[in-house]
Amino acid sequence: MADRPKVWVSRPTFPDIVARLDEHFEVTSEPEEIKFSPAELAAKLADHDAAIVGLKERIGAAEIAGAKRLRLVANLSVGYDNLDLAALTAAGIAASNTADVLNESVADYTWALLLGAARRVGAAERWLRAGEWKATKFTEWLGMDVRGRTLGILGMGRIGQAVARRASGFGMPVIYHNRSALPEPIERECNARYVDKQGLLRESDFLVLVVPLTPENHHAIGTSELALMKRTAVLVNVARGGIVDDAALAAALARGDIAAAALDVFEGEPNVHPALLALDNVLLSPHIASASHDARRAMTALAVDNVMAFFGHGPHAGRPPTILNPTVLATANPPTQP
Ligand code: GLV
Repeated sequence: MADRPKVWVSRPTFPDIVARLDEHFEVTSEPEEIKFSPAELAAKLADHDAAIVGLKERIGAAEIAGAKRLRLVANLSVGYDNLDLAALTAAGIAASNTADVLNESVADYTWALLLGAARRVGAAERWLRAGEWKATKFTEWLGMDVRGRTLGILGMGRIGQAVARRASGFGMPVIYHNRSALPEPIERECNARYVDKQGLLRESDFLVLVVPLTPENHHAIGTSELALMKRTAVLVNVARGGIVDDAALAAALARGDIAAAALDVFEGEPNVHPALLALDNVLLSPHIASASHDARRAMTALAVDNVMAFFGHGPHAGRPPTILNPTVLATANPPTQP
């Protein structure tokens, strides 16, 4: 039997799912979370035919320069700003993500953050755990009701739409801004109205960010955008660090330019801007919006499916389900293993 292709899994996932690769591949899974240096990453990539990687693996031209046998990078996330897709494509290396399988879980978590920020859940819990609860004043810990307030969504892809659909239970009108307006049947289903970005900033009571990080979206929310928002508004970022200017946000929250924020993602993760850590009106979590049992397992399964299919195995043989640069498939001639 010919040598089996080698697959590298850069982080611990679900062994029972990754084991599906064993029949066709020689698999190496890292047993713990490691922050690889660019040189270490390059060495791993050079030694494998496929890599299942996470967001902390930043892969560009330098990291793949010596990766002569690498055919596929399967990202364990829907966002892929960690990959230089142009460089991978130029090198004839396919890339995939985990689109769609996490939409509902991320939408659930977005609402957990939104409601948590509105009703000050994080601050109240810190207060209780600090032993401060002797009595609760009737007029203390007052938060914002969400019912009937306007939900704004920046980025109305499938996660944004899943967030919007949940708003009907809270009787919230939905407005959104996107590169382009959605087809009318989807707008109707989401009960959402297209507005320009300024309108979104001015009208939203709760503003949820779900746009990908691209050069155009870097600091899409900074001092001047925050200045347009209502003083009672709550900002929720489940998209990517870098879309919000964290220093500007901390200053706006401290001044009371907006009422509160909830953030799952940060510039320079895992570091969090110290000015944010010092504020009580911001709810913080460590980039876990997709971290439900079901979603993380489904993401792993999809990455495995992409590897299997790319190399000609499984139900999708030859048609990896979520390829980001399909032009590579047209030119690639992946070996079908016996
Ligand atoms: C997580 O941030 C993802 O992009 O899946």
